[in-house]
Amino acid sequence: MEEKERWLRAARQLSREEAQRRAEQLRKEIAYHDYRYYVLDAPVISDAEYDRLMLELQAIEEVFPELVTPNSPTQRVGGAPREGFPTVRHLVPMLSLANAFDVSDLYDFDRRVKEALPGEKVEYVVEPKIDGLAVSLLYRRGEFVQGATRGDGEVGEDVTPNLRTIRSIPLYLLQDAPDLIEVRGEAFMSKEAFAKLNERREEAGEPPFANPRNAAAGSIRQLDPKVTAGRKLDFFAYAVAHYEGISFTTHWEVLEWLSRQGFRVNQHRLFSTIEQVVEHIQGWQSRRFELPYAIDGMVVKVNSLDQQERLGSTMKSPRWAVAYKFPPEEAVTKLRRIEVSVGRTGVLTPVAVFDPVQIAGTTVSRATLHNEDMIRERDIRVGDYIVVHKAGDVIPEVVRSLPERRTGEEQVFHMPTHCPVCGAKTVREEGEVALRCPNISCPARLKESLYHFASRNAMDIRGLGKVLVEQLVDRGLVRSVADIYYLTEAQLLSLNRMGPKSVANLLREIEESKNRELHRLLFGLGIRHVGERAAKLLVERFGSLDRLAQATEEELTAIPEIGPKIAASVRNFFNEPRNLEVIERLRQAGLSLESRVPAMGQGPLAGKTFVLTGALKSLTREEAKAIIERLGGRVASSVSQRTDYVVVGENPGSKYDRARELGVPLLDEEAFRQLLERVQKGS
Ligand code: IVH
Repeated sequence: MEEKERWLRAARQLSREEAQRRAEQLRKEIAYHDYRYYVLDAPVISDAEYDRLMLELQAIEEVFPELVTPNSPTQRVGGAPREGFPTVRHLVPMLSLANAFDVSDLYDFDRRVKEALPGEKVEYVVEPKIDGLAVSLLYRRGEFVQGATRGDGEVGEDVTPNLRTIRSIPLYLLQDAPDLIEVRGEAFMSKEAFAKLNERREEAGEPPFANPRNAAAGSIRQLDPKVTAGRKLDFFAYAVAHYEGISFTTHWEVLEWLSRQGFRVNQHRLFSTIEQVVEHIQGWQSRRFELPYAIDGMVVKVNSLDQQERLGSTMKSPRWAVAYKFPPEEAVTKLRRIEVSVGRTGVLTPVAVFDPVQIAGTTVSRATLHNEDMIRERDIRVGDYIVVHKAGDVIPEVVRSLPERRTGEEQVFHMPTHCPVCGAKTVREEGEVALRCPNISCPARLKESLYHFASRNAMDIRGLGKVLVEQLVDRGLVRSVADIYYLTEAQLLSLNRMGPKSVANLLREIEESKNRELHRLLFGLGIRHVGERAAKLLVERFGSLDRLAQATEEELTAIPEIGPKIAASVRNFFNEPRNLEVIERLRQAGLSLESRVPAMGQGPLAGKTFVLTGALKSLTREEAKAIIERLGGRVASSVSQRTDYVVVGENPGSKYDRARELGVPLLDEEAFRQLLERVQKGS
């Protein structure tokens, strides 16, 4: 915060021209470091230095808001949501690729190419085929101006603000750029991001994405680019379509150019015979699972652009390229049993346990079956032979059963009527497929809650892993997350594998976790539907757990991005006396349930004095005051020369007249909201 204030002060010393020049310079510099970090994985400055550049730029943009450009790196967090996507016609149609399913298809492809180019030497470039979403990016004089999905190939959707949130898409090309160039490539999600996203969706009771392609598409086709920004997408460039003021002779040259301009370009190899191509592709068959993202094949392209042009395209696909598809990795195995696990929100999840099989590079023996409906739809019975694969090469899944191999011994599975852990009668909430254990003290739920509470993005208590949580719950030492803060040295020493040193470490970590930011504590409490982002928004808006506990559903849904589902769940949580007790015990243990109010003279509104008059529609006076104070500002009760802003609601009183007399800037509710949004973004 202090540093931010310094930059703000420095920015205020600049003339508009100086500010503009410095902002442009900073944007270029940041673009370069984004490239080093997100594309090359080889940063040349520390995170702190990077943050400093960003802070300086944010400060300049805050002081000179008219200098903010849509392509400023400060805007990567996602702009305002849209009503729907406008459509755009591609300058050059986006075709798809013809498929090759085996080696003979590759030889056929080579034969067709050679027949169309009699006597000519043909070189091929081979690159991985990523399982993502094709997008087209338009750069005018080196600046990213528009991006679109493939759509039907002729007309796509303009998703520019969403694409701006992807860090490996350069907002500016790094080198001297042509007047116009359209870059094509694949937006995709890494296996890790895909698995995490699906995990979160399941926890929230939302259907998981079937594969990284759908996940990428679902993330880009979001009306709210902030959602896209939270989805960890990545981008590989693989072609240029329309271009003016530049020329290329080979595909290889295009890839090298893209790479020099700051795009991530996937590994590519050049071959002069189809035999070499085949050998190379076969080598990738098993190696592909080592990649951090899923690929579903290899693309073979004629290298010479002149030859490409002469080969031309059919209606659907170019004749100069082919996609070799890897056979899907599936395995047949025997389903031994279906176990039921209980998650932290009480959801009962059936898990298939089968004879271990090798798929996509690892041995698997378990796969979630999601819910009873899915088991019924896929007609899966205990004892069945089943087909197993990995969604996105990471998440094991039962594709189908093989009824033809049944002996008659197989058992139809039913979800238990009682929680397998605590025995409480299970319930199904209206409109939901999931079955739940309603007992909040159920040891299974408790274990999961504790584990979540201690997890990295919540309270980050490193030493508190699964094994320890098991023991703490099974021995009755911990009955709620608050109990963690009351554990004694003697209690911990009595546990298996806990010596004096590990106990001391754990106690220190528990103590340190008391200082975590409030949004992490809120996230850690594991309120249904309240993920990290919602937790942040709620803390930003209410500033303390006590105020949040008092919030009505209307006040909650007034926050953009907080829908009725989250609001109802927050209300339910705070309506439950047992939860309030937990919060009380956390308070008594010394945890701060207030968001840290910046000290005097700090925060983005530091030094600013506000006066409130009239009724605001979306906030009470108290709430508005709390927000201003949290951002470092001050709220005074009367207007004077020193008042910076008067916020005017409905039926304002005499303060309004006084402000007009003195010429103090007036903000209506909307302008006030915008001001808050602006400074919060910068903070
Ligand atoms: S070239 C004219 N190269 O595969 C063909 N496509 O069905 C332009 N894809 O829609 C595509 N990796 O989404 C090309 N290295 C790569 C690719 C690739 C993935 C996707 C792309 C395209 C689909 C083809």
